[in-house]
Amino acid sequence: MRHLIDPLDFSPEEIDSLLNLADRIRSDPAAYQDVAAHKKLATLFYEPSTRTRLSFEAAMLNLGGHVLGFPSENVSSASKGESVADTIRVISCYADIVAMRHSKEGAPLRASRYSRIPVINAGDGGHQHPTQTMTDLMTIRSRMGRLDNLTIGLCGDLKFGRTVHSLIKTMARCKNIRFVLISPEELRVPDYIIKDVLEAKGIEYRETRSLEESMPELDILYMTRVQKERFFNEEDYIRLKNSYILTSEKMALAKENMAVLHPLPRVNEIALDVDDDPRAAYFEQVQNAVYVRMALIMTLLG
Ligand code: NCD
Repeated sequence: MRHLIDPLDFSPEEIDSLLNLADRIRSDPAAYQDVAAHKKLATLFYEPSTRTRLSFEAAMLNLGGHVLGFPSENVSSASKGESVADTIRVISCYADIVAMRHSKEGAPLRASRYSRIPVINAGDGGHQHPTQTMTDLMTIRSRMGRLDNLTIGLCGDLKFGRTVHSLIKTMARCKNIRFVLISPEELRVPDYIIKDVLEAKGIEYRETRSLEESMPELDILYMTRVQKERFFNEEDYIRLKNSYILTSEKMALAKENMAVLHPLPRVNEIALDVDDDPRAAYFEQVQNAVYVRMALIMTLLG
């Protein structure tokens, strides 16, 4: 049985097949409307979510399947003290596949060890968010026509942003990738990513505080929200939350075919007038997320 806990659980070839399937679904969604008929997806979200949960649900409904779940930690038995191991054993009796979001890093991995059904990590703490990465890859590939030979700028909260960690790990397997890591000192990419991923693989990267200076060289700009919920100290959050705001003036410094991505939700990192720039790809990402999750559910259900 397959799970998707870490983005590297899928080989580059498997990711390629997944994205190809997602592209086929995008061009003819109706052809897939019954492929998961009578199957059930459980969504176990112990942390807030709009996009991820609803896009999983939309994906399953688009495939003709059913969804069951609860919207937050407070209304599940976790609030009574049930362990992840017990919860997943129970859910395995109700559903055919499960998407889990949890504030504890490693919770979906633990669940997968006790599960009788495929487990999808829908975000674990500040750790990983593999399905967002598949969405990002689909969007990059459709915008740029490739996943190799790219200079990728990641900007904002690179410390707590799990989408950033998953994207770097996965794109580090592509050929001729350069990363420009744009953040305040306090929100730098964690050392384990620098050492175990970038340096271990000899990947070119540069850390900087300046978004303006970096703009002209980027093929992709991945903006992120400062992750308020992962700060211990509110004062630090208030000081750092507006570190970067992408504006049309800054966009004027960028390549003509650069693509701006953001996993959303946006708080204040991208000025609204950037939305009308053809290089803004973040709402396209939202649409792609449904196709990628359809492809993933199909793949894991076998
Ligand atoms: C992201 C997440 O949950 O990590 N959102 C999402 O799933 N699209 C990014 C964020 O919350 O900032």
